[in-house]
This record gives sequence, C-alpha cells and structure tokens, in this order.
Amino acid sequence: MKIGIIGSGSMGSGIAQVAATAGHEVYLCDKNPDALVKARDKLLKILNRLVEKGRLDDVESKAIFGRIYFKPDFASFGDCGLVIEAIIENLEIKKSVFKELEAIVNKDCILATNTSSLSVAAIAAACENADRVIGIHFFNPAPLMKLVEIIPAIQTGESVITASRELIESWGKLTVQAKDTPGFIVNRVARPFYGEALRIYEEGIADFATIDWAMTELGGFRMGPFTLMDYIGNDVNYIVTETVFTAFYFDPRYKPAFTQKRYSEAGYLGRKSGKGYYDYSENAEKSIPNKEEKLGHQIKDRIVSMLINEAADALFLNVASAKDIDLAMSKGVNYPKGLLEWADEIGIQNCVDRLDDLYNEYHEDRYRCSPLLRRMAKVGEKFYQYA
Ligand SMILES: NC(=O)c1ccc[n+]([C@@H]2O[C@H](COP(=O)([O-])OP(=O)(O)OC[C@H]3O[C@@H](n4cnc5c(N)ncnc54)[C@H](O)[C@@H]3O)[C@@H](O)[C@H]2O)c1
Repeated sequence: MKIGIIGSGSMGSGIAQVAATAGHEVYLCDKNPDALVKARDKLLKILNRLVEKGRLDDVESKAIFGRIYFKPDFASFGDCGLVIEAIIENLEIKKSVFKELEAIVNKDCILATNTSSLSVAAIAAACENADRVIGIHFFNPAPLMKLVEIIPAIQTGESVITASRELIESWGKLTVQAKDTPGFIVNRVARPFYGEALRIYEEGIADFATIDWAMTELGGFRMGPFTLMDYIGNDVNYIVTETVFTAFYFDPRYKPAFTQKRYSEAGYLGRKSGKGYYDYSENAEKSIPNKEEKLGHQIKDRIVSMLINEAADALFLNVASAKDIDLAMSKGVNYPKGLLEWADEIGIQNCVDRLDDLYNEYHEDRYRCSPLLRRMAKVGEKFYQYA
C-alpha cells in the first residue's frame, strides 16, 4: 500500500521512516521546499547512522530511503491507501488541507491526522466522507516511540478503525484506542506528573532536585518531572498544559503553573537552551536533593495519587479501556507500572483517603476524587481480577 504524508517536519519525517521501514512506498510532501530538503538530509543521516550501529545493513538502508519520495504537494497521492497529515497545529489550515486532499485521493483512502490537541471530529467535518477520517497520534520521535493512539471521531466508520489499528500494528507499534477528547490518553493522564510536582515546588515543600529524587528513587520513574520538563522543553510542555486546560473548560485539575510560565518566558526552556530548572552548562554545580525518606514518600504518594485519580477518571468517562490506559502509560511513556494496576496495589480505599486528605486540606476542586474510585472503594472492587 502506498502511504502519503503531509508535512515533513519532526513528526512527518519520523512517520515516513517508520512506514518506509515497514516496506511501504511513502510520498512525503511539504509546501516549504527548505523543509523537504531538511527532511531528506535528516532521514539520510539517521539511516546511515543505523548502518554504522549495525542495526541495518547498507542494502536495507538504501532500499528504505529509496522508498521515500519527496514531493512539493499532494497531487501524486491519488492511489494512496492511507494519508497521514502532520502539518502545523491549526484547525482552519488542517481543515482546508483535508478538503483539498479529499478531491485527489480515491474513495477508499483513509485520511488520518496526527494532531495532538485538536478535535478529530472538527477536522473530519471538513470532508464529505467524514467516516474515513481518524486520528493516528504518534509520539516524538516516531521511530523510537512504540505507542500510537488511535482516535476515532464520532463520524469514523468501524472498518476504518480496524484497518488503521491493524496497519499501524503491522509497523511494529503498540496501539491503544482513545475517545476524541482533549489530550487523548497520554497527554491527559500525565498532566499531574508535571502539575502536582510544580505545585509542591510552589508551596515550598521541596526543591526540584528533591522532587525528582523522590519520583525516580522512590517512585521508580525513569526521569523526575523537572528533568523531564527540561528535556521536553518548558515552552512545549507549558503550551500542552494550557491547551488541555482551555479545552477542558478551565477545569482546575489541569491548571498551568506560574512557575513554568515564568521559566518559559525567561527563556529557561531546558536542555535546548542550556538552562531550565537545572543548569546544563559545563561547569554547573549539581543540585543536591534532600533525601529525607519521609518527605520523599509524601511527595511521591501525592503525585502518584493524582496520576491514579486522572487515570481512573479517564476510565470513568470512557476515554479508553483500563487495559489501554495502563498500556499507554507503562509502554508508551515508560511509567514503572500501569496506574490502575498501581491503584490496586496501593488499595483503592487508600487512594481515596489520600485524595480526600488533599481535598480537605486545600478545599480546591483540583483534588476532587473520581467518582469511580469512590464507588469502587465502597464495594471493595479492584480494577483487575487477580488469580
Ligand atoms: N512535535 C511533537 O512532539 C508532536 C508529537 C505528536 C504530534 N504532533 C503533531 O504533529 C503535527 C506536526 O508537528 P511537528 O512537530 O512535526 O511540526 P513541524 O513544525 O516540525 O512540521 C510541520 C511541517 O508541516 C509543513 N506544513 C505546514 N502547512 C502545510 C501545508 N498546508 N501543506 C504541506 N505542508 C505544510 C511545514 O512546512 C512543516 O515542515 C502537529 O499537528 C502536532 O501537534 C507533534
């Protein structure tokens, strides 16, 4: 099957590499000629590096590169079986691209958007055959990240969901299905990892290094929240938070933090700017955490409880199945275990008690416990059946 990709930026070029590696002919288009040249050079460099590292042989690498065609427009997309759009995150521009695209592709072609934050239903509404439109959300960098969220719009046909999921899994990816709601699974459920860490810092309970230590050493996360925000970029992470907050009609659970806004405004973006919550210059002094166990466990339990609450609430509102929520967070973004499985391990009643303690202390809606957790605690239910 021939695959079309629109937009040859970070995501489009990465997805092109994945599809060409899986054996497809890929037509990668970008309206900006410089972006196309950049994508071509980048792909060549990556494929050469894979040969140097012994992950690919020279013949395979050349064959993969040879299957990618770089195009200035999508006029040649007529016989594509799937087109994935990965252009700028702007609803009006995406809608006009989908409208134009529909006039070119054949009637069976699946049209996918890689949007992170826009409504798939709104994009699909630009098409006459809205039932062929779906969200296929890759993570960055697409060749390395195993998880792909599949997001049917309310218009999407069943056969389009099945075909998309099967195709993406045949590319070696792990797919989970999410409802067309802000942040889908990962960008919604992960918010407290950053938000609650920032809140703990803002209250003066602990500094960045101590919070990061608690989450890695005691919580088992690969990176602490501040190290991760510095890695993602404070500007990028702040915008995702603000977008999710706005999309949820300003639900206080997703409220962005002034600290992150100021760091972003100051240009303390993280690794890419040499300074974020930490200093990345050569002779910078390393921040020393306060390794007081009691404090560390308090921090870890508070952030993990908020993550569990978010995961439970996503299940409560049928955003995804329990299995897909746990898979998305454990396999997709490498959490030490699925959050719902973690809730079972802690005990649902304990989770409710921790959240109620926070709520009683602060009287903020941000700490409201999901009705699902409360309901389960009442009847002694767990998320999973254990043999
Ligand atoms: N960067 C991420 O971490 C990430 C992760 C998942 C999803 N996404 C989503 O993927 C999409 C692309 O993001 P990105 O980071 O690759 O952006 P990017 O800015 O790196 O690349 C976008 C490319 O699209 C091109 N483009 C813009 N309008 C076009 C048009 N009308 N026709 C053809 N090409 C056009 C631009 O020239 C640019 O090269 C966005 O919807 C974004 O939300 C991004």
